[in-house]
Amino acid sequence: MKFNHIFSFALLLAVGCASGPKESIVAKYLDQRQPLEERVEDALQRMTLREKIDIIHAQSKFSSAGVERLGIPELWCTDGPHGIRPEVLWDEWDQAKWTSDSCTAFPALTCLAATWNPQMSATYGKAIGEEARYREKDVLLGPGVNIYRTPMNGRNFEYMGEDPMLASKMVVPYIKGVQSNGVAACVKHFALNNQEIERHGVNVVVDDRALYEIYLPAFKAAVQEGGAWAIMPAYNRYKGQHCCHNQYLLNDILKGEWGFDGATISDWGGVHDTKEAALHGLDMEFGSWTNGLNWGAKNAYDMYHLALPYMKMIESGELTTKELDDKVRRVLRLNFRTAMNTSKPFGSMNTEEHLEAARTIAGEGVVLLKNEGNVLPINVEKCKTILVVGENAIKMMTVGGGSSSLKVRKEYTPLEGIANYVGDKAKVEFQRGYVGDTTGEYNGVKSGQDLSENRSAEQLIADAVAAARKADAVIFFGGLNKKEGQDCEGVDRSEYALPYGQNKVIEALAEANKNLVVVNISGNAVAMPWVDRVPSIMQGWYLGSEAGNALARVIFGEVNPSGHLPFTFPVELADNSAHSVGEWPGGRDVRYTEGIFVGYRWADKEQIKALFPFGHGLSYTSFAIDEPTISKHSMKAGGKITIKCEVRNTGKREGAEVVQLYIGDKVSSLPRPVKELKGFQKLHLAAGQSGTAEFTITEDDLKFFDDKQHAWIAEKGDFTAYIATSAEDILYTLDFSLK
Ligand code: BGC
Repeated sequence: MKFNHIFSFALLLAVGCASGPKESIVAKYLDQRQPLEERVEDALQRMTLREKIDIIHAQSKFSSAGVERLGIPELWCTDGPHGIRPEVLWDEWDQAKWTSDSCTAFPALTCLAATWNPQMSATYGKAIGEEARYREKDVLLGPGVNIYRTPMNGRNFEYMGEDPMLASKMVVPYIKGVQSNGVAACVKHFALNNQEIERHGVNVVVDDRALYEIYLPAFKAAVQEGGAWAIMPAYNRYKGQHCCHNQYLLNDILKGEWGFDGATISDWGGVHDTKEAALHGLDMEFGSWTNGLNWGAKNAYDMYHLALPYMKMIESGELTTKELDDKVRRVLRLNFRTAMNTSKPFGSMNTEEHLEAARTIAGEGVVLLKNEGNVLPINVEKCKTILVVGENAIKMMTVGGGSSSLKVRKEYTPLEGIANYVGDKAKVEFQRGYVGDTTGEYNGVKSGQDLSENRSAEQLIADAVAAARKADAVIFFGGLNKKEGQDCEGVDRSEYALPYGQNKVIEALAEANKNLVVVNISGNAVAMPWVDRVPSIMQGWYLGSEAGNALARVIFGEVNPSGHLPFTFPVELADNSAHSVGEWPGGRDVRYTEGIFVGYRWADKEQIKALFPFGHGLSYTSFAIDEPTISKHSMKAGGKITIKCEVRNTGKREGAEVVQLYIGDKVSSLPRPVKELKGFQKLHLAAGQSGTAEFTITEDDLKFFDDKQHAWIAEKGDFTAYIATSAEDILYTLDFSLK
């Protein structure tokens, strides 16, 4: 018996004598001084087969059973990733109609990624974790880090863009922030879930290089750097096996190569086979006999693959308890880290700090795409009338889109935000411009908005144009919304163009008023055939509770935009590699023929100029970036090189610049991208202030995944470092070599 065991045994006896056998076990499990693994082993040894089976699958839509006899509580999950999902009934998707479950909606993860500021991720994670904790949730189903492969994916708004390095750097602080509350982050959807069409069946065919270099790094960072306690395997298939029971992804890579010690929690309805689920690394089964969204068979829990069917296979000797015990250990670990964690804080909900966090992240994520003639920021003092046009100025965006839909305490629409901000300094008028989606309900949560409209499309345009002619400035809010066929789970987008005839409205407004600002609200790139005719364009995202307030602060200049695109805006779909050489949506198989050439990696290779490139974002001030210095031009294996550059705010107001470091390998044995993001730094600078961007390059930054050797390799030779402000705006190049 190890000393620890003796200690815990003695404690058990002591507490046991004082307060009876059951309490003594609970006391032991709650004693945070006891090593986690010992508590896990102890509980495991005491559990019956049935008790083990019971904790590895759902008992309701969002919970799994505890072990009553041992005082181990139930586990409660919640969506994720932008706010805490309202309560649904035990066994239905319908609302439980609680009156205490309205939350703060944080900006969509595309916006978070667009801040290029890991501190914003930390703020986000801490705040959403506090809300989850307040609602007594143990597992937050998020964040999502599937790579933005095509702008057609309906769920891109829940993810962190096209670049594995950016997504990795942004996901880690989110996880740590959430988990500091004793709430597990369940990172999703592992892996290759890059489209919604046929998501339950489609088999992704991808080479190992693209898998390891593009699609896995953010998950790996989530596990190894973020210390994520849970991972949600995806719906789709890879190498013919569903990701929820996938030997390669779950056993070989996640648990084998990366050493993940947490629990895998199936996506809702993603499990299809008992034996595969038992053997291929799934730890918890949720949502079987549902499509994960709105359909669900009643009380099917005993029929779950990892419920009685699994138990029967063990009893009959077809399967052993070896895998079961591994699952139970992982679920117990999850439980001890969350529900049984006695040192976790209490959490809070809808606090001023949370609203401020939502507003700040939103403001920092807004991307100023174009600003000719400095139409922005709008000077209220110089305006008598400001015209706001477009449905997205008045439509609530927190309701809809699938499982990330929320019930918010309050959502400020852009029109409200602008009207509040302007106050009586100017007249704010509104024109609808177009009619898009007048509905506003998801799973019984109603936006309560009446968006009905009787005027014809022509009349709406005519009315908007007439008003635009008389206004001092016109702000058009359009883009997509959370309806099926747009930015929505379960389906992909139906077109790359802006829907509902918005192009006509924008073109007519551009004719009518030269002070036009177009704010695109979406989680995806869209086509902008009018780009040359509109002086100012802003990417607005889904910004959550504080959407309108955050946008108003940027539009009127209180907040200086500093967001940069986390993905490429192609001019047309054919400029995107999945559509040009790859497949989307594919058939039973979808072939990622483009391999590693995703996003700007493809644009670089083919020399395709983007509508707006990855990493692009303007400011109301200007910056000068001095010629960088490099510590040395050659590096030995295991060594490092430092690159530094001075950044000066040369304008008249504070602002932030994102300095980006890309690296390209000049000659390599396998094809490599022209350049890849390897570092970035956001510098907040007062007018006239200077700061230093500093990057350290190590051998790891030079590696590629050699699929033949199944290893990350750095080849000796010459490399180029690019100092840039977007994938297309290269300011300096520096050569160095690896000896
Ligand atoms: C989604 C998950 C979500 C789950 C539970 C599924 O449909 O794919 O992201 O967490 O439902 O709502």
